[in-house]
Amino acid sequence: MSHSSQPRPHTFTPGGALKGTIRVPGDKSISHRSIMLGALAIGETRVTGLLEGEDVMSTAAAMRAMGATIEKQPDGEWVINGVGVGGLLQPETALDMGNSGTSTRLLMGLVSSHAITATFVGDASLSKRPMGRVIDPLSTMGAQFTASEGGRLPLTMQGAQPAVPITYRLPVASAQVKSAILLAGLNTPGITTVIEPVPTRDHSERMLKGFGANLTVDTNEDGERVIRIHGEANLTGQTIVVPGDPSSAAFFIVAALIVPGSDVLIENVGLNPTRAGIVAVLRQMGGSIEEVNPRIVGGEPVADLRVRHSALTGIEVDPAVVPSMVDEFPVLFVAAALAQGRTVCTGLEELRVKESDRITVMREALELAGATLHETEDGMVIDGTNGAPLPGGNASPVVTHLDHRIAMSMAIAGVASTKGVTIDDVSPIATSFPNFMPLLAGLVAA
Ligand code: S3P
Repeated sequence: MSHSSQPRPHTFTPGGALKGTIRVPGDKSISHRSIMLGALAIGETRVTGLLEGEDVMSTAAAMRAMGATIEKQPDGEWVINGVGVGGLLQPETALDMGNSGTSTRLLMGLVSSHAITATFVGDASLSKRPMGRVIDPLSTMGAQFTASEGGRLPLTMQGAQPAVPITYRLPVASAQVKSAILLAGLNTPGITTVIEPVPTRDHSERMLKGFGANLTVDTNEDGERVIRIHGEANLTGQTIVVPGDPSSAAFFIVAALIVPGSDVLIENVGLNPTRAGIVAVLRQMGGSIEEVNPRIVGGEPVADLRVRHSALTGIEVDPAVVPSMVDEFPVLFVAAALAQGRTVCTGLEELRVKESDRITVMREALELAGATLHETEDGMVIDGTNGAPLPGGNASPVVTHLDHRIAMSMAIAGVASTKGVTIDDVSPIATSFPNFMPLLAGLVAA
């Protein structure tokens, strides 16, 4: 599902303090997995709080094309009737993944242990992203691939039946690669093992267990996580409540911290420790982020976050936190651009293969907004304004390269600027956060 081909430029202008209470949409990672596991389970899965962004709808369309029934009820709840592990049907047409790397890599894993031949296509951004990282382990399991140059989309996969269980040590810290292998292992006889030297988001492990898979997580003598899934699993339909997405909340957390006078309550934010790095880093910089009413929602820690304008100080960001905030660096760069002193980020090589090269694209974007920064091979060095707004007033628009998080980060830079920041296209925002613009406008107006 690709958003409209007509670019929609927009200027985000300063509107004074942000005040009020908002609720961000459901977590994207959990939403994708709810649909995939619901579509593979026996019986009915009911999901409330599902993110209805374009990326998740791409996953839903693909699972429908392979036999699952997925419907939204009038009350907003989603009901999924699955086909059972091993029961996916041959799709009649190519699976259109739109902008979504998560849909592509996780579904490649799912399909790879079925007797299915599937073609995956995507938009211009997704068609530049490397798929070799999943092609390699899934080929070892027996799937066969015909990919475009450099292991990219469009690609056609012939699933293996039966697939062969493997033990695979992740060469990159990637929850998508981990999840692709675990999902392939669902319909593979025997035990499929993933060794994770650096922990990444653990939603797949939590949810596979929740749906009834026999999955264990241990730590080996080298301190690595060892995840084992027993194949030919039976999954049973579940009732799922999706918590708010911390990656979406991050834009408003940063906005409230950097715009003077702001005081915002963001309700229902998922704070799974494998996702909450941004909150810890912003607190380390001096940000006032208070957790109100901490609770458990759908098996995940959740709280409401009260965020107040704060004087931020530049820090050296510990590269060990990168996996727990891998999607939040673009907006962290914006926060750093208004901090006192220098912020240094390292260990960000994975940012270069996201929806865009988020190091170069954010360096160019923040330069246009008047920030002082330079990129390094694996990171960014930012010299902040000591609380002063960015100049803004860019004559040529920020180029977002079909990357929703670049668009939203620069929207926040715009509300924290003197003359506003113009970006070339806001339409990619709908991939992960369809109501971002009205939520931001509401907080500024309040
Ligand atoms: C995701 C994992 C991350 C993240 C992406 C969602 C997931 O990608 O950037 O937005 O749901 O598993 P990598 O695993 O490639 O780092």
